[in-house]
Amino acid sequence: MTSAVTARAPAKVNVHLAVGPLRADGFHELRTVYLAVSLFDTVTARPSDGLSLTVSGEGTGPGAGADVVPLDSRNLVWRAAELLARHAGVPADAALDVVKTIPAAAGLAGGSADAAATLVALDALWGTRARREDLAGLAAELGSDVPFSLHGGVALGSGRGEQLSPVLARRRWDWVLGIAGEGLSTPAVYAELDRLRADGKVPDGETLAPAEPVIAALRSGPPQALAAALLNDLQAPALALRPALRRALRAVSDAGAAAALVSGSGPTVAALADDERGALRLAAAVAGAGVFRTVRAVHGPVPGARLVT
Ligand code: C5P
Repeated sequence: MTSAVTARAPAKVNVHLAVGPLRADGFHELRTVYLAVSLFDTVTARPSDGLSLTVSGEGTGPGAGADVVPLDSRNLVWRAAELLARHAGVPADAALDVVKTIPAAAGLAGGSADAAATLVALDALWGTRARREDLAGLAAELGSDVPFSLHGGVALGSGRGEQLSPVLARRRWDWVLGIAGEGLSTPAVYAELDRLRADGKVPDGETLAPAEPVIAALRSGPPQALAAALLNDLQAPALALRPALRRALRAVSDAGAAAALVSGSGPTVAALADDERGALRLAAAVAGAGVFRTVRAVHGPVPGARLVT
């Protein structure tokens, strides 16, 4: 019998995030380009009677607050386990240990990564042999970003973000992530966008910005072309809710980033570097500015949720 199985899944940055109006189902229509980056959470699954969950690592220590990462059925990991068990017709028996390096509520899809890694780990532990497209369907039930956490690489996302088509990126892209001490709630950022639109302070989103420029830039570079094509409609509402982000973005530009934007619903700032050396230099300069809790140099694309051997 298998004793322990570990899977890992990456964080993501949205290099293009065009948000349409609020739909009747409470979600917004998206046209987004996801890039999986080299910051990973791991999930280890062991045989057990019933389901149990521990979470350690980034943002889970004393003072982080249990609400940040709940340890019960509110956790996406827990829900992923129950969903796969139901799908496969097996009991949801597993002891799950999540080790986080992706901070929660940071706009990096950390919770989605945990859910995707759980699906992959439990599929192996339970021997359910789910097809990749079945796992993708379960992932979409769990959250808009979970299919991408499973898929990894680069992909164009439509619908609420869960419908993916792969995008080719021939080169490696280096980034610096500036991570704030306190997270932002994704629904709150979307709701703030709706408010800004109702007040006429930002465009209404009826026309979604095309993704072609960013896809073309991702394929072939140079970094200046990608820098010019980056877009995030959630940046304005994230800035409205967290005015200090403006200073953070400025600090990153002052440190020499080719471009910087808020990642997803924020508050993480993603800064584009020319190459790996540039990213390490930029990370040191950004850390020196003292506006972030953590600064990480990462690169993408990297694969989606995979077993760790
Ligand atoms: O799908 P997920 O659970 O990650 O979404 C969390 C929340 O983010 C949703 O309840 C919704 O408020 C908002 N959201 C949205 N439009 C999307 C994705 C998420 O409004 N396309």
